[in-house]
Amino acid sequence: MAATNIEVWQQATVIETTAVTEHIKRIVLRPDLPRRADPGSHIDVKVNLPSSTQGEALKRSYSVVESANDGARLTVSVFRAPSSRGGSVAMHALQVGDTLEVTQPLQNFPLRIGAPRYLLLAGGIGITAIAAMARVLRELHADYTLVYAGRSRAAMAYLDDLQQLHGRQLVAHINDEGTNLDVASLVAALAPDTELYMCGPIRLMDSVRRSWLEKQLDPANLRFETFGNSGWYAPQEFTVRIPRLGISTTVSPDRSMLEALEDAGADMMFDCRKGECGLCEVRVLRLEGAIDHRDVFYSDRQQKAGEKICCCVSRVASVGAVGGAVQGPEQGLPGIVIEVP
Ligand code: FES
Repeated sequence: MAATNIEVWQQATVIETTAVTEHIKRIVLRPDLPRRADPGSHIDVKVNLPSSTQGEALKRSYSVVESANDGARLTVSVFRAPSSRGGSVAMHALQVGDTLEVTQPLQNFPLRIGAPRYLLLAGGIGITAIAAMARVLRELHADYTLVYAGRSRAAMAYLDDLQQLHGRQLVAHINDEGTNLDVASLVAALAPDTELYMCGPIRLMDSVRRSWLEKQLDPANLRFETFGNSGWYAPQEFTVRIPRLGISTTVSPDRSMLEALEDAGADMMFDCRKGECGLCEVRVLRLEGAIDHRDVFYSDRQQKAGEKICCCVSRVASVGAVGGAVQGPEQGLPGIVIEVP
């Protein structure tokens, strides 16, 4: 059976780990309840924090880079963020034989077969959500181009393998080689019936969305995976308060505001936890710093207004040199005061 959207948790055993770049590790899992992972699917993982004495776990989502046909082997690749103090550090510490709790493959970034032509666009670790799509399109002899952008060859996971597999179908843009991606030109050159699938940093995806709108291409042909994990500012610690509920807590750089509020006892609404559905929306009453909107739910105008925030992915940052520093009311941190529905 293929991936669905029903969350079924199971145990999985680590059967292989390999460093594919300095900061990216490839981890192969053998799940207890195998299910095939179609291109675009991901698994959620419960990651135990190394510092936790109470079995505290974070939930993280990772794209399935490769899967055996029957799902008996699932490969994910994990980027260890320099600022991480939890999730990705714990994933990188996994050893062969360790077990962890994972979902069966979940699908909310499906590849539609049958489009006249495809552009697959990956920025950095976003290649993990795109690689399996490219493989399938190649097998189907579809008309596709895989565009892969990154800082340097050494930082781009699987680049050599992809070049070997896709040949001229792969176009690499590598910043330190001076071949930076020009998003506006890329989108301007597209045939109107192209379907574009992308995953990468929010700035890249934002820029593609703008060019897409400018060119008046069909919004239904622009599909993306977010994982809500990259923003305009590096993640910082900040405070969040809900006066009506008497809740005041600190959000560490490796936790989301939603997770911190849940830990503090707030009964929060949510669904995707990826900045896509808007269900976790909260109202901003006061702000000490800048909102780092990391969702794809609000329009530019709504994000600029700053009246609401998707608390599953968006954060607060002290703006420092960008627009003047503002200190938070507690512990010198940036902060936000909110109301929940
Ligand atoms: S839970 Fe979907 S946007 Fe936050």
